[in-house]
Amino acid sequence: GKVGVLFGGRSAEREVSNMSGAGVLQALQSRGVDAYPFDPAQRSLAELAAEKFDRVFIALHGRYGEDGTLQGALEQLGIPYTGPGVMASAIAMDKVMTKRIWQSMGLPTPRFAVLDSKTTSPAELQQVPDVLGLPLMLKAPHEGSTIGISKVTDRAGMDDGFALCAKYDEVVLAEEFISGRELTVPVLGAGRDARALPIVEIRAPEGNYDYQHKYFTDDTQYLCPAPLDEALTQRIQALAVQAFNALGCVGWSRVDFMLRAADNEPFLLEINTSPGMTSHSLVPMSAKAAGVSYEDLCVEILSSAAL
Ligand code: DAL
Ligand code: MG
Repeated sequence: GKVGVLFGGRSAEREVSNMSGAGVLQALQSRGVDAYPFDPAQRSLAELAAEKFDRVFIALHGRYGEDGTLQGALEQLGIPYTGPGVMASAIAMDKVMTKRIWQSMGLPTPRFAVLDSKTTSPAELQQVPDVLGLPLMLKAPHEGSTIGISKVTDRAGMDDGFALCAKYDEVVLAEEFISGRELTVPVLGAGRDARALPIVEIRAPEGNYDYQHKYFTDDTQYLCPAPLDEALTQRIQALAVQAFNALGCVGWSRVDFMLRAADNEPFLLEINTSPGMTSHSLVPMSAKAAGVSYEDLCVEILSSAAL
């Protein structure tokens, strides 16, 4: 049947989505799938319904694509879609809610505080490092691709980091900085059948794996499978599956970690329910290390599309 590849969209990650969607569309077409592009930013839900897609591949990132709102609309329209459903998508789009759920289930995630963007005073802001230490991370909880994220190294940096987050979000997540190695793990499937793909380690120059490094420069080093001993590899992969199931994710997602240098303890940072599929992206890199081509990966994700 007819497949829609949804990409573009209205979020701050539109540009990334355009790269992901173009890749997915071409891959599916190369495998004989009757696939067509559809940009929800340019066309309405009524037009989406009129296309009579049998299934859609969601290659949108961020708000109105990855956050459960589109998933709800697709449920209403009766169109099966790739990736997690309404609730898991909505929770995963919120780094604070995600951490609260993981924490309540005993899964390791860095200590944190939640600040109101409008009412937090400069004096209150200066108290945060007393609790979380320095450096610390300030994050806009509902963005992706490192948009709105700062690493604050001294008290003087708190104001600028906070102001940046406040541009994007009503609340600001302040999080303990875990010094160590940056890892990510794709998970495919659902429930008991969910399985982790090989771990990717990201080594960015000066630890700066930001928006620019994610998509536009080639000076970041990626190691896949990450050089970790077998026991630690299995522990991190198992944790990724638990983190995925804790939120009720299905289909596919990518779980981001920090591995603390001091003691090799893994910490969960966030889960991406519509991960990047660009030429620089990590899920395709991991799949390749497992012997799964980009095209086969797209076909497998599409085959999991459900309501
Ligand atoms: N938010 C970007 C697209 C990712 O997680 O890959
Ligand atoms: Mg993210």
